[in-house]
Amino acid sequence: MLVFLVLAGIAVYLLYQAIKLERPHNFPPGPPNYPFVGAGLYLKSLNAKTGAETFGKLGEIFGPVTGLYLGNIRALVVNGYEAAKEMWGNDHFAARPELFQIKYVFSGQVRGIFNTNGDLWKEQRRFTIRNLRDIGFGKSSMEGLVHEEIQETMTRLQSSVQEGSSTVHMNGRFTISTTNIIWGIINGKRYSHDDLKLHKLLEALREVLRAGDVKVNLINNYPLTRFIPFLSKDFKIMADGAAEILSTIKEAVNSHKTTRDENVSRDFIDTYLNKMDGEKSENSTFSDDQLAGICFDLFGAGSESTASQIDFAVLYMLLYPEIQEKVHAEIDSVIGKDTYASMSDIPRLPYCEAVLTEILRICPIAPVSVPHASIKNTKFMGYDIPKDTLCSINILSVHMDKSFWGDPETFRPERFLDQNGNFQKPERVVAFGSGKRVCMGETLARMMYYLIFVSFMQKFKIEQVPGESRPSREVRDGFTVTPRPFNGKLTLRN
Ligand code: HEM
Repeated sequence: MLVFLVLAGIAVYLLYQAIKLERPHNFPPGPPNYPFVGAGLYLKSLNAKTGAETFGKLGEIFGPVTGLYLGNIRALVVNGYEAAKEMWGNDHFAARPELFQIKYVFSGQVRGIFNTNGDLWKEQRRFTIRNLRDIGFGKSSMEGLVHEEIQETMTRLQSSVQEGSSTVHMNGRFTISTTNIIWGIINGKRYSHDDLKLHKLLEALREVLRAGDVKVNLINNYPLTRFIPFLSKDFKIMADGAAEILSTIKEAVNSHKTTRDENVSRDFIDTYLNKMDGEKSENSTFSDDQLAGICFDLFGAGSESTASQIDFAVLYMLLYPEIQEKVHAEIDSVIGKDTYASMSDIPRLPYCEAVLTEILRICPIAPVSVPHASIKNTKFMGYDIPKDTLCSINILSVHMDKSFWGDPETFRPERFLDQNGNFQKPERVVAFGSGKRVCMGETLARMMYYLIFVSFMQKFKIEQVPGESRPSREVRDGFTVTPRPFNGKLTLRN
């Protein structure tokens, strides 16, 4: 009897799943979907090395919009500029799906900006952007903080380069700097590079970013699977990492509450607490939990991502010495070797800007954009898309479109220079996304990316280590991608 009931239960469940996975009317074409796994087996059969490659293959087979199920979640995969532009331009897609893992981390409520929706998201995003700009986001007043970090990082690198040149493991060399800059904006303080607390925080962040793993995705689809021991381990690591970050943020907020003066804003936490004081409405969206969520987002979205983008730039200088030589020549002639680069120098460094843009094109750290969701039934590229469909834009497919770029696989910064060597701002490099959900930290990210790269090139030459194989251009996949581990032979430039 018991066996019969269990089998009947499974049969009902599978039937429910099969009905749920039915293709809606006028939904985009896509692979077959099966109960529980959705299109999972089909995606696996494509044998791609990364998520972006898998999505690119779907584009080749089904066209610019593919409709499918990821587990039991109805989804669209968008390839190519035209479809991406239409999606970014349609406000009905300017939402995020509510993922189980996020609600879990924030004790049942989605907080912050990255994962929130509706009026709360709008109000909190607008407030945060305006006030970060006032604090100095992207302004020359912020360059002091960036220069302080650059100085410490370069001094440490110099001390590891002995007798002219040394082999140095390059991945993650700039993570402490980017983290400290963001933490400085939030909390008004920077950590010493040796501070154990900082290293603990970075370790926690790495654990959270691993949450793009297949196992955690499965738990997002079927939350009860988190109790299966082989799956629960990774989920727990992610959740513990997030709890560690939140506890550090809450500690900083509590310390601000006891030391602040309401008439002065030392940093973003003070600014937010002052705003909370002035809020009279019971329905205000400003709260301690929201403040913690925003700090979590800025830290989580900004520090490792920007540092990995700089790692890619350094890797490509190693792989393309002739381009590195031109970078050195331009920096030497425009700013010399002794003064720090500032953002006002960038227009006078068109070759460097072209190099950094080409790196954003060829290896963006978010090759597949953060997922969006439809908040209403909507028309898209001639199809009918139901409310609550998850949407993934393959940014790399825009950057690698052969019909537009001609030779997209070739690393060729000159594509962004006109006949007079002036930098041409490209419309189709969309590494920061576009539309209402465009990256909130783009100005700061560009400042860190440009200034840290130029300072590194000012001081060092990087080459392939003699006797070691040439590092790979292939990426290490994840929620954001990074270069595979690589060493460089660093030589101090005198
Ligand atoms: C090279 C560095 C970076 C790249 C390539 C990058 C890229 C992106 C992309 C592709 C998105 C998703 C856009 C979409 O949903 O359509 C995004 C969102 C976001 N980024 Fe960045 N990002 C970088 C650095 C930063 C930094 C430094 C910060 C903050 C300190 C930041 C904060 C955010 C936030 C909060 C969002 C969510 C915005 C929202 O949902 O309204 N990012 N970023």
